[in-house]
Amino acid sequence: MKRIAVMTSGGDAPGMNAAIRAVVRTAISKDVDVYGIRRAYTGLIAGDFERLTNREVSGILQRGGTILQTARNDQFKTIEGQKRGLRRLNEMGIEGLVVIGGDGSLTGALALHNLKFPVIGIPGSIDNDIWGTNMSIGVDTALNTILDAIDKLRDTASSHERAFLIEAMGRNCGYLAVMSGILGGAEIILTPERPMELEEIAIALDDAYTRGKSHAIAVIAEGAKYKINEVAEYIEKHHQIGFEVRMTILGHVQRGGSPTAFDRLLATRLGVNAVEHLLSGATGVMVGLDGREISTVPLEEVVSKQRRITDSYFEMADFLSR
Ligand code: ADP
Ligand code: F6P
Repeated sequence: MKRIAVMTSGGDAPGMNAAIRAVVRTAISKDVDVYGIRRAYTGLIAGDFERLTNREVSGILQRGGTILQTARNDQFKTIEGQKRGLRRLNEMGIEGLVVIGGDGSLTGALALHNLKFPVIGIPGSIDNDIWGTNMSIGVDTALNTILDAIDKLRDTASSHERAFLIEAMGRNCGYLAVMSGILGGAEIILTPERPMELEEIAIALDDAYTRGKSHAIAVIAEGAKYKINEVAEYIEKHHQIGFEVRMTILGHVQRGGSPTAFDRLLATRLGVNAVEHLLSGATGVMVGLDGREISTVPLEEVVSKQRRITDSYFEMADFLSR
């Protein structure tokens, strides 16, 4: 292989730049040229490629977002779109591709592999819902951002004796909510994985008041059965809890920021490994963190399963909130 390409796709995640840098510098160290594809599958279909040298990836290790930018593209979900993308790769003389993104992006990568194009995936998404890796790039940074917010909200909650409802991202996955809830000392955590009724939530917050706490925190995953405003409205209308209630939707602030040491290291290791596997002839696999090692998992398996939160975390959250 003499020429490969790299793209970032789906929701951006802190550490994607560190992965791009590792891909580029590993390939160049092995005398392989690298092209960056701008704006994910949209740029692939449009032929928006840019040669990346060691200089283009200088000074990006610590930057959030992605220098290649990202996009969501429905055309690539069709076979016509995929063939158009394949044609662009062939026109450019590109022999292999590294796709950094979430499960949707990795489904796109699998489609190219099925069209006989060599592809390796790297898990990049703050949601931590990707099968085949303990952690995806961006999760640790997002978690630290959420914790920073919870710590600050607790200061004001405690001063005013209030209950705060805090919404965390994660699409259909409650990982960020569960972990930030446990580590931020939340009284109650709502996730899609463990649905609960509105009354239970109100009781948990009220219980914190009667037990003498000066504040209460509920972390609500964006994909939970009840939206944050439904919870707030229910409490206001149907339940007299001791605390005044306020709500904060953290939103896209969770996706930005400089990657933590963990994310930089993970992204760097995955980037190096992805290129090594691609150049040694592997295709149709994702590189992921397996314990302390980096291993490969077939993309077919990655996209057909969803990473689950270990049950013990829910149990832990329950008794630690007392
Ligand atoms: P993420 O990669 O973060 O999960 P999305 O689910 O939005 O984000 O997927 C990102 C992009 O991956 C989509 O906009 C689309 O271009 C591509 N993609 C998603 N699903 C498929 C699919 N079934 N086939 C081909 N490409 C897909
Ligand atoms: O997949 C990452 C993520 O931030 C999810 O947590 C969230 O549901 C979604 O992307 C938001 O997407 P958008 O940036 O398109 O609003």
